[in-house]
Amino acid sequence: MVVHEREPFNAEPPRTALAGLAETPVDAFYSRNHGPVPDIDPAVWRLRVDGLVEKALELSSDDLRARFDEVEVVATLQCAGNRRAGLIEVRDVPGETAWGPGATATARWSGVRLADVLTEAGAAPTAGHVAFAAPDVSRLADPPQTYGGSIPIVKALRPEVLLAWSMNGRALPRVHGGPLRVVVPGWIGARSVKWLTRITVRAQPSGNYFQATAYRMLPPEADPSKAGPGEGISLGPLALNCDILSPDDGARLCPGPAKITGYALAGDDRTVARVDVSLDAGGSWIQAEVAEAAGPWAWQHWSATLDLPVGDVQIIARAWDCTGAAMPESPAHLWNPKGYANNSWARVRVRCA
Ligand code: MTE
Repeated sequence: MVVHEREPFNAEPPRTALAGLAETPVDAFYSRNHGPVPDIDPAVWRLRVDGLVEKALELSSDDLRARFDEVEVVATLQCAGNRRAGLIEVRDVPGETAWGPGATATARWSGVRLADVLTEAGAAPTAGHVAFAAPDVSRLADPPQTYGGSIPIVKALRPEVLLAWSMNGRALPRVHGGPLRVVVPGWIGARSVKWLTRITVRAQPSGNYFQATAYRMLPPEADPSKAGPGEGISLGPLALNCDILSPDDGARLCPGPAKITGYALAGDDRTVARVDVSLDAGGSWIQAEVAEAAGPWAWQHWSATLDLPVGDVQIIARAWDCTGAAMPESPAHLWNPKGYANNSWARVRVRCA
């Protein structure tokens, strides 16, 4: 793993560790934390469900397992800061980590549907949002506070949104949110709150710093240190994205036919329609072969065989979704002061000799 920070722990794998795998092994799954990883004793841990509900609940791990059906969803998580390094090449993003392409990964999550828990609690007709709270305290927040976030009730009631206790068939590791985390497929990773202790049904989105102030896309001229709650675009559904996972950036290859592989992910309620690959800066493209996904919420791997010329070569990939939208060419048009949602064309540079 490339460790960006030890405390809080932030690390991503090299791109090649993600190549070709439907499920990412836990030890290659990126870690994104805003504070110290809490140590929670599952025996004393409880989940509280309150707010605009007919009946507040307090559930232990055993209650969750006994009272609700266990379901499994293969879903890709992607941090809003994934590929920020590409935006930093355009202009610095002070105070934010230069994540490469590895802040995304796919796992088989199992647990219970959030919708089933909300149904048991009886969400009121005035419910608009479902807020999640965790005990990890972030000093990066202003003022320092525990981590939280929310999603609209319409998404919260969808069957793919899980309260997960297992990842790839094993107990959810502590660093990934054990004993229980939210998994919101198709949405930025920030909404998949780890170490979940409280669910509150509300009329409005959560007022937590990580919902109201961070993870919002500000206009390029804004000063994030002066931006108050509610400014900018609140990030939720993921933007269409893709990347080249093999060969690695900077690889040395032989000229001639080479297999290029990567992933594509469309985000909430959209599907990947096509992936194109180019060796001439987008002057001409060939269509990659896109493999079946492991489910509607998982990335799709793609591959293409390209005839690499001698010399320094830039390989480019772009994806299209089912609405006919394509990834934009340049990160220059996407630059924003917190460095979120870089979905410009994927590029790797290789030397063929
Ligand atoms: N939940 C809590 N409690 N604290 C956090 O710092 N980080 C969020 C989300 N949930 C975070 C959290 C972000 S920004 C992302 S991208 C995902 O967790 C990362 O999940 P992972 O570390 O399991 O990959």
